[in-house]
Amino acid sequence: MSHPQDQDVSLDKLLSVATTAARQGGAILVECTRVGFRIEHKQTINLVTNADHQAEQRIIDVIHSAFPTHSVLAEERGLTELSPSRYKWVIDPLDGTTNFAHGFPAYCVSIGVEYDGRGVIGVVYDPTRDELFTAQIGHGAYLNGIPISVSAMDHLDQALLVTGFAYNIRETSNNNLNHFARFALKVQGLRRTGTAALDLCYVAAGRFDGFWEVALNPWDMAAGVVILREAGGRVTDFSGNPHSIYGQELVASNGPLHQAMLDLLQEDTSARS
Ligand code: IPD
Ligand code: CA
Ligand code: CA
Repeated sequence: MSHPQDQDVSLDKLLSVATTAARQGGAILVECTRVGFRIEHKQTINLVTNADHQAEQRIIDVIHSAFPTHSVLAEERGLTELSPSRYKWVIDPLDGTTNFAHGFPAYCVSIGVEYDGRGVIGVVYDPTRDELFTAQIGHGAYLNGIPISVSAMDHLDQALLVTGFAYNIRETSNNNLNHFARFALKVQGLRRTGTAALDLCYVAAGRFDGFWEVALNPWDMAAGVVILREAGGRVTDFSGNPHSIYGQELVASNGPLHQAMLDLLQEDTSARS
């Protein structure tokens, strides 16, 4: 397929625009906590606020004013593609909406860029701590400009892991409660922060040793998996196959713990069948 409208763009330029967009989106979220925001229900426990929409609009405006031809997949708006582009921006304007709506300060903006279907840029911005996680493929991962790397932990019983639950937790038995119960008895600590993009960055920074979820969306993962890989981490599906942000499963680890995590997740699967 030809892409006559695409200009080749440097990774530095992509990262710079992604960073500007993430910071501006984050500033809108913080401002909404100051002036107030409206909450709507997408489904029973799945919320959205006007902050999600406003941040998303600003992020897309920043991207399209720099790169009018690039495709954009954003959580609230879906796919915007004027014509086929080699570049796709994958955006979660507010990852951690439930936390945000309750005033629990754990949320972020997540922006990933794909080139020919491969993740090349990841930017995750936590405006409550002013922490900016960034990565370009082949150039390492950074927190506020300082290189980060995964932990060296190789014992599950000394590890701090994190997971999350999808909004359909009440509607399906594949809701991660089985895995959660099993892991809880094997690890030093287990957390549920409510923001998958930050969970991935925290594994990248060595704050967590591993993370898994059963049903994530592309915008939850696009930026974080680039950051995690560039920090030396490993990411697969539950069978150990190559990870795709368009699949739902994710196992992310520092590397040494990966097989032990897969073994535990697969034990659960065989116990069910
Ligand atoms: C959610 C968060 C949460 C994860 C859910 C996601 P949202 O995203 O990342 O941690 O457990 O699966 O849907 O709705 O806050 O953008
Ligand atoms: Ca999300
Ligand atoms: Ca979101």
